[in-house]
Amino acid sequence: MNPINSNRNLILVTGASGKFGQAVLKHLIETLSVPASRIVAASRNPANLATWAEKGVVTRELDFEKPETFNPAFADVERALLISTDTLDRPGRRLEQHQNAIKGFAEANVKHVVYTSAPNPEGAPLLIAPDHEGTERALAASSLSGWTVLRNHWYFENLFMSLPPALASGKWYTADEGKGSADIARDDLALAAATVLAGQEAGKNVYTLSGAESLTKVEIAAAVSEAVNKPLDVVQVPVQALVDGMVHAGVPEPVAQIFASFDANTAADRVAEVTGDFEHLTGRKPQPFRDWLAAHKAAL
Ligand SMILES: NC(=O)c1ccc[n+]([C@@H]2O[C@H](COP(=O)([O-])OP(=O)(O)OC[C@H]3O[C@@H](n4cnc5c(N)ncnc54)[C@H](OP(=O)(O)O)[C@@H]3O)[C@@H](O)[C@H]2O)c1
Repeated sequence: MNPINSNRNLILVTGASGKFGQAVLKHLIETLSVPASRIVAASRNPANLATWAEKGVVTRELDFEKPETFNPAFADVERALLISTDTLDRPGRRLEQHQNAIKGFAEANVKHVVYTSAPNPEGAPLLIAPDHEGTERALAASSLSGWTVLRNHWYFENLFMSLPPALASGKWYTADEGKGSADIARDDLALAAATVLAGQEAGKNVYTLSGAESLTKVEIAAAVSEAVNKPLDVVQVPVQALVDGMVHAGVPEPVAQIFASFDANTAADRVAEVTGDFEHLTGRKPQPFRDWLAAHKAAL
């Protein structure tokens, strides 16, 4: 690990070994020309960040469940990105992790915290929404002088999970009642997070980062079917039938319930809104779905 930088204006990226964290680091350095020595990449396993350390990025250990890692990880940090974790094994555990982190940031006098939330988390039927809603509340209740909530819409990349089995059978089962979803490329969301981190934004703001358009699964299926030259029919089923189908395929029931709740959330029109917040923050248009598909169809 690198020695602690003497500057007091460091930028911290938590969860830096994950896919989002990696993309944020890339944008900070390559797109926004932030000097590597100003960036702290933190992970439960900093050994996974060796390639960033070689570029001059400061790498530190950070685990939201180990408060003893906080002081060394937060030293001299001015702006920090709190990437929501992937801990979904027990309801409430992820929220506790985020609450720990926010308390630690405030105690370390971090000036501005950026958080990766989800669209419309308040009272949503989405089973993971209470973690985001609770984290936003924790930010609001904290003594932090500034924070930016980025309500990230769903990644196009989530299609890498749902589409391969759908394309194999030719049937894409859903309980979304034909409603639309304004998804966006993960890399665009990482650019937005990096832009806020590297910038001067102060105060307390909430942005909703959607893609350029809201698409239904029928529209997505038509584009995908044409791109990969395979038939794909969208089949609407009740939420419980979707859960049963996943359980039958070997998905643990609590996980199936979470996945199905994404469709219930879409059916409740929670993710269809197209906003201009991505362009407002970055000065760029979000990547259109068809362009993303053309670049990624080989992986489907
Ligand atoms: N908008 C969407 O469509 C969408 C889709 C998937 C996920 N997400 C959310 O966005 C987050 C980032 O996405 P991703 O694609 O980068 O997922 P990912 O690659 O699975 O990353 C998960 C991240 O959680 C961090 N983490 C887990 N436990 C932690 C702990 N105890 N303390 C600190 N960090 C911990 C990991 O950090 P280290 O391993 O480096 O410690 C890792 O960076 C996910 O964790 C999830 O909350 C959003």
